[in-house]
Amino acid sequence: MGKGTVVMAYSGGLDTSICIPLLKERYDYDRVVTVAVNVGQRDEEIAVATEKGEKFADTHYTIDAREKFVNAYLFPAIRANGSYEGYPMGTALARPLIAEEVVRVALHEGAKTVAHGCTGKGNDQLRFDFIFRIAGLEVIAPIRELNLTRDWEIGYAKEHDIPVPVAREKPWSIDENLWSRSIEGGRLEDPAYHPPEEIYGWTVAPEKAPDTPEVITLDFLKGVPAGMNGDAMSGLDLIQGLNLIAGRHGIGRSNMIEDRILGLKAREIYEHPAATVILAAHADLEHLTLTRQELAFKRMVDDKWSELAYMGLVHEPLFHDLNAFITQSQEKVSGTVDLMLYKGCCRVLGRSSPEGVYSDDLVSFDSTTLDQCHAIGVSAYYGIQARLIEERKKR
Ligand code: ARG
Repeated sequence: MGKGTVVMAYSGGLDTSICIPLLKERYDYDRVVTVAVNVGQRDEEIAVATEKGEKFADTHYTIDAREKFVNAYLFPAIRANGSYEGYPMGTALARPLIAEEVVRVALHEGAKTVAHGCTGKGNDQLRFDFIFRIAGLEVIAPIRELNLTRDWEIGYAKEHDIPVPVAREKPWSIDENLWSRSIEGGRLEDPAYHPPEEIYGWTVAPEKAPDTPEVITLDFLKGVPAGMNGDAMSGLDLIQGLNLIAGRHGIGRSNMIEDRILGLKAREIYEHPAATVILAAHADLEHLTLTRQELAFKRMVDDKWSELAYMGLVHEPLFHDLNAFITQSQEKVSGTVDLMLYKGCCRVLGRSSPEGVYSDDLVSFDSTTLDQCHAIGVSAYYGIQARLIEERKKR
């Protein structure tokens, strides 16, 4: 008799695959239950995870969490203009949801222990652990605890007849969800190395994108996208469709040095075509519909929201408070944005909203609704302290 059942977040990749025999041989569990959570990875990846989970684990679950991911994680991220060090974060948004689904299975299976295949160097270990520990579960992370390297893992996988999905010359570690695709590892770990074209899966090279621009229209309702080119669409359909359209135009590539939670700097490549377009449109619409005061304050709130989301601290009370503010702030953020997609760039062409804090009648060169003479009095006082000091210097 061993230690009973352990439930593990499973991707079908090398790390999580070798964890199945490790949890039995090194940790003495009798039953390993694997959970693959579909947050918008390629169909093929989900199929591989399902097939390998069914073959190597004692029980396997594949859970389609895409709708939940859109509504509970991506919509809040859009309202918050969620970005980390300049890119639309994606992995960070999916991890808490994956962990929550694993917790649900653990409760269902009566397991007190859960596992994940994260290394001890990245962010994901902390994001997973936080959700698991809040649920009162014990956490095992074999790769981290046994300090394993890729080479050792490949050898161990071969001994256990586990197919090794990474070739030694193309050892990219890829993480995909509806919002972004991340590529790291291998030669990319040299920050000076130019990423080869083959690592990209969602976007064409901007210079190879069509010579004809494409104009699209996005409709927003209270801060989230609700339709494209005049057709009402679910968030899921819209994001999937827009990933294809914007990806064809080479939009949404990032190649950067990122500061991880633990302080390590890492070289990261991302693809996020739909996210780039939606966030650009959303931010633009906020500029039409929110006041200057709202915009300035919300920028700070968005920054803090993004920091907590990146850290995976989605149950931090402040995160709930910020979400309440952000949701309230989006009541007026409805309208339409036209964008041009062309060779890696996405430009807003125009926007409109019934809620706009804009009056052409007031601002127009051609209107006399506002009496310009009223500004003379304002101007007399304008910058008066600075003017006084400058005058004194001249004396
Ligand atoms: N650095 C990103 C993050 O922490 C993405 C990491 C994705 N992992 C991967 N194996 N590609 O959010």
